[in-house]
Amino acid sequence: MTTHKLAVIPGDGIGPEVTAEALKVLEAASPVQFEKTTYDLGAERYLRTGEVLPQSVLDEVRTQDAIMLGAVGGKPNDPNLPPGILERGLLLKLRFELDHYVNLRPSKLFPGAVSPLSDAVLGKGEIDFVVVREGTEGLYTGNGGAMRVGTPHEVATEVSINTAFGVERVVRDAFNRAQRRPAKLLTLVHKTNVLVNAGGVWWRIVQEVAKEFPEVTVDYLHIDAVMIFMVTDPARFDVIVTDNIFGDIITDLAAAITGGIGLAASGNVNPDRTTPSMFEPVHGSAPDIAGQQKADPTAAILSAALLLDHLGYSDAAARIDAAVLKDLETRTGTRSTAEIGDAITSLI
Ligand code: NAI
Ligand code: MG
Repeated sequence: MTTHKLAVIPGDGIGPEVTAEALKVLEAASPVQFEKTTYDLGAERYLRTGEVLPQSVLDEVRTQDAIMLGAVGGKPNDPNLPPGILERGLLLKLRFELDHYVNLRPSKLFPGAVSPLSDAVLGKGEIDFVVVREGTEGLYTGNGGAMRVGTPHEVATEVSINTAFGVERVVRDAFNRAQRRPAKLLTLVHKTNVLVNAGGVWWRIVQEVAKEFPEVTVDYLHIDAVMIFMVTDPARFDVIVTDNIFGDIITDLAAAITGGIGLAASGNVNPDRTTPSMFEPVHGSAPDIAGQQKADPTAAILSAALLLDHLGYSDAAARIDAAVLKDLETRTGTRSTAEIGDAITSLI
């Protein structure tokens, strides 16, 4: 039997609770075995030891076949946990070091899931789209600085990095995904009318790559217009390709309209497969409900399906999606995190 090496980073707060359920479902659905190594990373480790992501751990994680992450982050405004330390030092560091240039976030309104949108909007068609967010460039590279901090003359910059190489590879991935989907529609999202430099390179590369995908229809929307359509006509979207920060914003709204943060899954993917890709729920460590078995593990479970799909087990991934769908259809009352995980496992 094939065995894959799986790095498990349960993290903080509800991270370990939802990860435990995702592992249950993963192992029930998978045709292959996983040799798991658990890594203690996150706010708790930092507060205990001052370490965020030791080089030796990164080197080890690099040799795995995939990574499953729960969530990392401490309590709000903990004075011992400076802002950015885990985001920059752990999450972004993993994404950048492992070259996760595709941040993949599918949004599907499962029957049974509750959307805040009106019936009139929901009646326009099925909500089923995927956001392909660039994960290694844009405003998130830390290219900036500050001087005269705290004075009336403070200067602060964050410069957006957009390379032709970086844009082309993510655009090509998005076209490939659009090509495999029934609607075959790719929407580029940017703000080309104002951000003329960054927007220019995105626009030109999309036009160039489009020539290789004659079956894919190309659309374009400004980011602000996307915020409107996301709540007035989300059925119009199929594959969205966009830069790092626009993708970050779009995917939170996309999660909100498709049943909420408890259902939103994501993958940080290296399509070239030269490093392990990392799969995680979109939500954070939710300190407000941590340790109480109140977290919905569905987002983590759907992330496990993305992991299986990435490793080439699309049938197993589809079995997880189908089990989640069935479970959502019959959801009533309140169940613990483990009860939801067990129910979905039994439906596999
Ligand atoms: P959050 O996503 O942790 O929580 C927001 C709200 O949603 C809370 O009320 C929480 O109880 C609820 N919630 C989240 N996941 C849920 C689930 N599975 N089931 C039921 N309810 C759920 O975001 P917040 O509060 O902004 O951040 C908390 C910590 O998590 C911070 O330290 C933040 O930095 C970190 N964080 C980590 C992320 C990651 O590891 N990728 C992503 C987002 C935040
Ligand atoms: Mg976000």
